[in-house]
Amino acid sequence: GRALALVNLRDAETAARQRLDPVYYDYFAGGAQDEVTVAANEAAYRRRSLLPRVLRGCGPPRLETTLLGQATSMPVLMAPTAFHRLAWPEAEVATARAAAAADVVMIAAMLSTVTVEEIAATGAALWFQLYIQPDLAFTESLVRRAEAAGCRALVVTVDSPALGRNERGDRNDFHDLPPGVFCANMGGAGHVRQVVLSPEISWSHVDWLRGITTLPILLKGVLHPADARLAVEHGVDGLVVSNHGGRQLDTTPASLDRLEPVAEAVAGRVPLLLDGGVRRGTDVAKALALGAAAVAIGRPVLWGLAIAGEPGVRRVLDLLRTELANALTLLGVAAPGDLTREQVVS
Ligand code: FNR
Repeated sequence: GRALALVNLRDAETAARQRLDPVYYDYFAGGAQDEVTVAANEAAYRRRSLLPRVLRGCGPPRLETTLLGQATSMPVLMAPTAFHRLAWPEAEVATARAAAAADVVMIAAMLSTVTVEEIAATGAALWFQLYIQPDLAFTESLVRRAEAAGCRALVVTVDSPALGRNERGDRNDFHDLPPGVFCANMGGAGHVRQVVLSPEISWSHVDWLRGITTLPILLKGVLHPADARLAVEHGVDGLVVSNHGGRQLDTTPASLDRLEPVAEAVAGRVPLLLDGGVRRGTDVAKALALGAAAVAIGRPVLWGLAIAGEPGVRRVLDLLRTELANALTLLGVAAPGDLTREQVVS
């Protein structure tokens, strides 16, 4: 069907745009204000070149990777994205089935439209994305649910002390979810608790979280090397170098441009993930060569979901996997971890 006709991830966006309500397409595609950062994320990959090695006789590359003890079939995760039911009726359940089929980690968003328990029932390997809520008793209840559901890490989003200013949403007057779509983790039938993005959240909350759970904790949305150092000092197990796909503070640098400064600050003490603008196998290769242990993709998963549900997401993952294997072969490396810094040039 349609999903199989896709040749690359850009086709997926084109096909999804044709299918989606324009208001929801704008919600998924858009970023903050002028979308300078949205554009910068992808442009940063195009600005860099790859330098292959030749005659190494490596054979076909092996893409399997282990991240914080979690085995995955390739160094690509699903970034947490809210409200999958706007893209497809089976919502996050369809996404999770695709993750399970492809053997990749899905970072399940706190703001999912089915519960984390329903997502976990698919058998997918899950990490749970958390916005720390000022109501710590409620936050702890979410952590306990994620633990009980089998999530194997917490990804705490720290770039959201407030919501970024999405002007497409303003123009479209898109401020409320349609009937039947709600944040399923935030309450039972009837009353649904509002998510709070609070500027009061601080390192003391990270310390508190560190004290209540033994799950690995990653901070998502770190761009400054000083914050990366602080994160390690506060016992964090990993970082996601991210500007939230350009949806929070506009005119932040491309995430790829922050990878090396953060890697230098962290000095190998914790693994780094990177998200924002990854659309090609060559993009993945560049991120890995510059110090990421893995990357995550946000919008491309939503495009696959909007096109065909689970098979659409599988197709997106298959395309990226094939591209990554091809890129590594042409680069002359046998595995993602064999890429070296000097194989990326400006
Ligand atoms: C997001 N992202 C996000 N991040 C997060 O921590 N919690 C969330 O609820 C959401 N929700 C969300 C919704 C939508 C529609 C998008 C596009 C993104 C950010 C996401 O995790 C990731 O950082 C970016 O999507 C990565 O950039 P690309 O791959 O979309 O370019």
